[in-house]
Amino acid sequence: MKTIVVQGAVTGELLELKRYFPDGIQTEVNGYAFYETELNGYKVVVSKTGVGILNAAISTMTAIEAYHPDCVINQGTAGGHTRDMQYGDIVIGASSVYLNNMRMPLKGPGEGSNALAWRPGRSNTIEIGADERLIEAAKAVLHDGRVIVGKLGAGDIFSREADRIDWLHEQMGHLCEDMESVAVYKACAACNVPVLGVRIISNNELIGPRDDDEMYRLAQIKLQKFIRKLLGILCGEE
Ligand code: 5AD
Repeated sequence: MKTIVVQGAVTGELLELKRYFPDGIQTEVNGYAFYETELNGYKVVVSKTGVGILNAAISTMTAIEAYHPDCVINQGTAGGHTRDMQYGDIVIGASSVYLNNMRMPLKGPGEGSNALAWRPGRSNTIEIGADERLIEAAKAVLHDGRVIVGKLGAGDIFSREADRIDWLHEQMGHLCEDMESVAVYKACAACNVPVLGVRIISNNELIGPRDDDEMYRLAQIKLQKFIRKLLGILCGEE
């Protein structure tokens, strides 16, 4: 049987998906939660990764070892990192870049810190591509709203300083910031598992709306509707 793993970092990113598939089985491997269900002859595993790069990497490796998936879909919210990225926009992650690989100019005691002078690290810059077939499938989803194909950015950081966001975007070229996608792409690349990240803009600290729980909740619901349709396409549902 073919298997698809669909991930979210927090409960709100998975609630609707579980509602679409009410008869699943909840289980746990290595301390990470999985909900096993079926769609049209496919096994669908809804996976809660937890927040951040470490959780996403460990949880993805755990999912790959436990379920040998044919593909992994990572989905969730993200902050817009250009002035054009609006609340509710969906980004199909053609690639994802690691935002924490930084090297800073030397400063001595008492010289302070200037994050705008940091540069991407000389080696080990991580940008990984998504699977072309999954990108095409996501582009085929019928959705009333803006869908953009572009570069995700991820790191253990929640950027809220306008100058720093502009600087980061100039260096890395990503459209939005999340805290998991690049780790998932990396784990999948290491294991030759096709991967795609899909993110919805839940906040944009440059233009608003800013970090707000209710705005997150509504965005999460909208994205899960999109993901349900994507699963339908991937599983050959009419
Ligand atoms: N920066 C970083 N992570 C964000 N998330 C939503 N918006 C942002 C942002 N601006 C996502 C992360 C993480 C949680 C904080 O929400 O992926 O799971």
